[in-house]
Amino acid sequence: MKTIVLSNQKGGVGKTTTSNALAAGLNNRGYRVLAVDLDPQCNLSLSCGVDMLAAEETLYHVFKGESGVKETIIPLKLGFDLLPGGLMLSGADMDFTQTGREYMLSEALEEVAGNYDFCIIDTPPTLGVLTVNAMTAADYVIVPLTADLYALQGLTQLNGLINNIRKYCNRGLQIAGILLTKYNDRQNISKALKGSIEQAAEKLGAQVFETCIREGVAIREVQLMKSDLFTEAPKAKVTQDYNDFISELQERIDN
Ligand SMILES: Nc1ncnc2c1ncn2[C@@H]1O[C@H](COP(=O)(O)OP(=O)(O)O)[C@@H](O)[C@H]1O
Ligand SMILES: [Mg+2]
Repeated sequence: MKTIVLSNQKGGVGKTTTSNALAAGLNNRGYRVLAVDLDPQCNLSLSCGVDMLAAEETLYHVFKGESGVKETIIPLKLGFDLLPGGLMLSGADMDFTQTGREYMLSEALEEVAGNYDFCIIDTPPTLGVLTVNAMTAADYVIVPLTADLYALQGLTQLNGLINNIRKYCNRGLQIAGILLTKYNDRQNISKALKGSIEQAAEKLGAQVFETCIREGVAIREVQLMKSDLFTEAPKAKVTQDYNDFISELQERIDN
């Protein structure tokens, strides 16, 4: 099982949208996929049609040792499986203080690693214990970024965390790349910022994916339908972008 985490401490950059599209797109290619919703706001679960208020067993209970991970996984109509984190994870930084708390997720995922080809982890817009757990469990990080003035602000801090994870928790963690989302190539400002983002990425030893995800109405439509782009809008341009991105990602992580 290859584990990929979507991370950026900034909100609204497309972590959840990309998690959904990546899980659905890989499933569409015939892979067995587990999506993990580590954001206590449960956006990914909701976008996949799972009502978290009704979910009694969540990753919180798994981390507390009160539930098994296999019983907590929900098979979705969309074709992939979901491991819901749940609202109660919002206190995770204070609830989980024991030694080894960085490894809660990687231990849980070890139990089911044989059942999946890919695990896609969506994270909250913070660099707290949940994101640390995700990065400790992951093989690759993808950093979604919007091409705006503030995009670069958090990148150094995020890279600092990744370096610490490599040093203390997960030596093999790699940055798969930076993914530009909500991209509008007709705007000169987007092009100009793409250049500076590429320069910043180089300094961090990361690459920007050649494929950018354009802005598209299909994204919101599909979200409202609690479905995914590949099921509901296979011909939309933004779906094609995600498909190209997945091909590029697969090439990067196979080599
Ligand atoms: N390519 C896109 N085109 C149009 N809207 C998008 C696109 N990607 C994301 N969005 C919208 O932007 C908002 C934030 O995206 P989201 O994936 O929830 O970000 P994050 O998880 O990083 O907070 C959502 O309402 C989503 O519908
Ligand atoms: Mg999100």
